[in-house]
Amino acid sequence: MELVPLGPGFAAELRGVDLIDVASSDGAYRAVREAFEAHSVILFRNQIVTDDLQVGFSRAFGPLELTKVGLLAAGTFYVRVTNIGEDGKTVSENHRQALINRANQLWHTDSSFKTTPALASVLSARIVPDDGGETEFTSTRLAWERLPEARKDELRERVVVHSYAYSRDQIDPELMTPAERAALQPVRWRMIWRNPVNTRDALYIASHAGGVEGMSPNAGKALLARLIEDATQPVYTYLHRWRTGDVVMWDNRATMHRGHPWPGTQARSMVRTTISARGIDGLDQVRPI
Ligand code: OGA
Ligand code: MN
Repeated sequence: MELVPLGPGFAAELRGVDLIDVASSDGAYRAVREAFEAHSVILFRNQIVTDDLQVGFSRAFGPLELTKVGLLAAGTFYVRVTNIGEDGKTVSENHRQALINRANQLWHTDSSFKTTPALASVLSARIVPDDGGETEFTSTRLAWERLPEARKDELRERVVVHSYAYSRDQIDPELMTPAERAALQPVRWRMIWRNPVNTRDALYIASHAGGVEGMSPNAGKALLARLIEDATQPVYTYLHRWRTGDVVMWDNRATMHRGHPWPGTQARSMVRTTISARGIDGLDQVRPI
């Protein structure tokens, strides 16, 4: 196995190991898991991916999230992130699937709004547009480490409120169904998520983060916006330009990501599996009392 660095201090391509190896061998799984804990974003190239293989690979890392009702492939362990509609054609700009893609273009970490957050996500490129449609990543571990000590001391004990409504309503107030709104109540997480393997802390912030406990709504929002802005300066990010057969796995505890736009007339089809943080070490620490 060979590691090729991709981004500024995080993200790496893994060569010499395929999804199928991880799905079938504990040794391959352990090597990939170690790389994942260290580098936060892992790329596999030239994979022949099926939904079943992607589920099998992802399962090695832990229990998978079930796809929310109302999304494509609801009730399965994967979600289709695509602008191709049921008729096989690209959807119009105001179609729900297009709005979901647009919400993915806000800097976020997956599932921070859920009562059990996500350890990792796995995204595979099935159909890639000719222009745009990249995914950009930043390390919130490195963003935390760059902060001055005095600033870290101010932030270390903070608790952040995350809500799906907060991020969706920025795109379109109609995007969330009344059922989703009722089911997805705000959740609270510590601002810092410590990795139990290497003890490095990461900022746990995202588009779903709408407020900070003990601060006025405006001051909390301003603080979160400032932290996100600092973390996402172009010099600190890795922009992934997709090729068909690419699979990228990222650590939702220690990164943020966002999709980039592409011409709506070009098809783009990705499949995501999401590994729940249920039962992992360190989840108790990020959960405030
Ligand atoms: C996701 C996501 C961005 C993209 O699937 O979680 O944010 O570029 N995707 O498709
Ligand atoms: Mn996402």
